[in-house]
Amino acid sequence: MRVLVIGSGAREHALLWKLAQSRRVTRLWAAPGNPGMAALAECVPIGAHELERLADFAEREAIDFTVVGPEAPLIAGLVDVFEARGLPIFGPRQAGALLEGSKAFAKELMEAAGIPTAQHRSFRDPAAALAYLEEHGAPVVVKADGNAAGKGAIVALDLETARRAVRQMMVERVFGSAGEVVVIEDYLQGDEIGSTALCNGTSFVPLVLTQDHKRALDNDEGLNTGGMGAYAPLPFVSAETERAVQERIIAATLRALQERGIAFSGVLYSNIMLTERGPMVLEHNVRFGDPETQAMMLLLESDVDLLTLLQEPQRLASVPLWRPGYAVSLTLASGGYPGSYRTGLPIQGLAEASRLEQVQVFHAGTALRDGELVTAGGRVLSVAAYGATLAEALERAYEAARLIHFEGMHYRRDIARRGLRALQS
Ligand code: AMP
Ligand code: GLY
Repeated sequence: MRVLVIGSGAREHALLWKLAQSRRVTRLWAAPGNPGMAALAECVPIGAHELERLADFAEREAIDFTVVGPEAPLIAGLVDVFEARGLPIFGPRQAGALLEGSKAFAKELMEAAGIPTAQHRSFRDPAAALAYLEEHGAPVVVKADGNAAGKGAIVALDLETARRAVRQMMVERVFGSAGEVVVIEDYLQGDEIGSTALCNGTSFVPLVLTQDHKRALDNDEGLNTGGMGAYAPLPFVSAETERAVQERIIAATLRALQERGIAFSGVLYSNIMLTERGPMVLEHNVRFGDPETQAMMLLLESDVDLLTLLQEPQRLASVPLWRPGYAVSLTLASGGYPGSYRTGLPIQGLAEASRLEQVQVFHAGTALRDGELVTAGGRVLSVAAYGATLAEALERAYEAARLIHFEGMHYRRDIARRGLRALQS
């Protein structure tokens, strides 16, 4: 099989790394890829947003299967473009990708189907949104309807923060057209987890549950980021809760889509709050999580063929997918991220870190400049590690991080603290 991976981050590097181990894969391409991916695949300079050029390339190279990392091309209809030309691709069509592309659509679908999620109202008129805030009171959550690269949700503990969020999204348009419609919803409390399922219509194979760390700084302080680290499995989630997630959230969402004529295939990755009233959906995504994927790929059993898992998940439904033990990922970020940061800074120590056992360093935002690896993004590298225990996996990831250096580099020191606490009690 000739396989193409679309995207340029650590999630795509991790998927590619696992695909490269497949006996069924003969040749790999990445578009546009990154310097880390270039060691495993041929990188082609086509952006993830260039739908027709991607399809032209897949046709010309007789690509047998295309795997899409980021949500933007899915929301833009990449799968529809490929399918119209008979090109096999993994992911939902545009109609299904609306689950991530429009929070208002997702909320209405869930409410109509009785899927547990925070109560919400959506608004097109800023005055009406502001009036609703006064009525609702704080705490409250304000979200831009459209895709705002993970930064469009403001958890407001006081009303002034909420009012400011409405004004910034709807009037000042800081997220552009993504803020044309705003969703205002109840604030939920509990442990936040990630659920990932490989879906094919209404059937699905649930993958291991994960926990991300979205805030930039330790103790969940600082701004929301794309994700500073993740781990799996989750020792504090009971089998009963896991079943509730599968039945009340994954199966129910796929059924609700089906009832609207949408056969959803690809990844359904949901952010879920484990509340006193049970698991409730914060957000649905239609692609793999980043940095969750990096940990998941290290946790997959070595003989699990990722290509088969993506193409025919049901075929592997009865084999053990996950190694016993734990995997973690740790984001090494640029100084200042998620605010403004410098790029082009030399990266050292990668070779030493990569030599550690059970450690893989995936590239998130790097570039080659005159043969030297330099920083090129906010999230620069994603260190993933496996361990027989959670503590061992963390030790390995942090040991790798200590070997790597670039000016201003920062990372969280408290990844998986919630999991460690659960294991100690
Ligand atoms: P989202 O982009 O919807 O995933 O939201 C980003 C982050 O905001 C989530 O990961 C949560 O930590 C937080 N969040 C979103 N919705 C809520 C809510 N209703 N209650 C509490 N926190 C929330
Ligand atoms: N880890 C959060 C996300 O991928 O959306």
